Amino acid sequence: MNVAILGFGVVGSGVAEVISQNREHIKENSNVSLKVTKILDIRDFPESEFAPLLTKNFDDILSDDSIDIVCETMGGVNPAFTFVSECLKKGKHVVSSNKELVATRGFELLEIARENNVNFLFEASVGGGIPIIRPLSRCLAGNNVNEVAGILNGTSNFILTKMIVDGMSFEDALKLAQNKGYAEKDPTADVEGFDALRKICILASLCFGTHVYPDGIYTEGISKITLEDVAYAESYDAVIKLIARAKKISDDRITVMVTPCLVKNESMLSGVSGVFNACLVRGDMTGDVLMYGKGAGKLATASAVVGDIIDCASNDKERKFFGWAQEKKDFVASYLENETAFYVRATDTDKNAIEEAFGKVKYLSRENQPEKEIAFVTPVMKESEFGNKLSQLSINLISTIRISDY
Ligand code: HSE
Repeated sequence: MNVAILGFGVVGSGVAEVISQNREHIKENSNVSLKVTKILDIRDFPESEFAPLLTKNFDDILSDDSIDIVCETMGGVNPAFTFVSECLKKGKHVVSSNKELVATRGFELLEIARENNVNFLFEASVGGGIPIIRPLSRCLAGNNVNEVAGILNGTSNFILTKMIVDGMSFEDALKLAQNKGYAEKDPTADVEGFDALRKICILASLCFGTHVYPDGIYTEGISKITLEDVAYAESYDAVIKLIARAKKISDDRITVMVTPCLVKNESMLSGVSGVFNACLVRGDMTGDVLMYGKGAGKLATASAVVGDIIDCASNDKERKFFGWAQEKKDFVASYLENETAFYVRATDTDKNAIEEAFGKVKYLSRENQPEKEIAFVTPVMKESEFGNKLSQLSINLISTIRISDY
């Protein structure tokens, strides 16, 4: 079966490599014979063994009836959306690793795929090489999922791990992540939580059956986390992680947010270090399930793309029942309805005032703690209540971080 690749970057070139290297193995195991016949990119790759397959003209792929499956690894929404929708309308299956495309235009593309009786699959869009989308939509389909949460950005997890384990500053750890090629071209998406946001929107749409768009979702990154916060977390027997989560708060409402959290050391998520990702699913039948592995990287991500290609190729005439409904008004509740405990670090306040506002709190300490500095963990309360209490307190706030409950 002939495959075309749109975008010969890190993931796209990985897909060509995986298919070429594992062709025989794929044939033996899955009984499908895959061949990359065309690759679209505006750049030239004269040194590449795949150079003869390259074209700069999308129509060469669209109008080629011998191509059954198109793999979109360009990234970004435009022109990816146009190319993907055109291919689906032409009766070609499309597989994509593009989280921004799926998070913002996924519902429309799934509809176009359904209308044209082809597949639009995107296992690689969340968690790189970790199987997440298919297990969630198939293996866990007998559950009501109450919550999905994860460490979904490898770069920010690598930075936090360097801060926690090696005492490195945020800036130095970011530089190291960039040198190692983990960060996106613009690291803002990694460190400010937008990459994790796109991924949790895809997972929330899948788990709760309604498209959740990234716009308006409360998102905090890790750029304000300091080594002092890391030290206080350690005294609480916890580590700081960037957690993306979506939680059912009633039958027809969920909360979705991305924020740093203090994660207790006994949690399954606390040991997820470096560039590794993990996705925790709370099913009503399974309890907590954790999917763990490499969330980024050329071959790991390409492996997930090729898995989707094989799925399309092995049931060529059969469309997967897979997708979700259009956005519903008020389905995503304000993050202020979320309930959580908070870590607070501040100066210019005192214990009496703190306890009057929050009741019983747990005080934390660190080495070289300035006399004026105070850090504590509040009881669990609604975000709105926490905001009200803080605004009534005379305090010079340095940082607040949520406490995770898993
Ligand atoms: N920059 C992303 C990460 C790559 O660090 O997780 C995978 O989406």
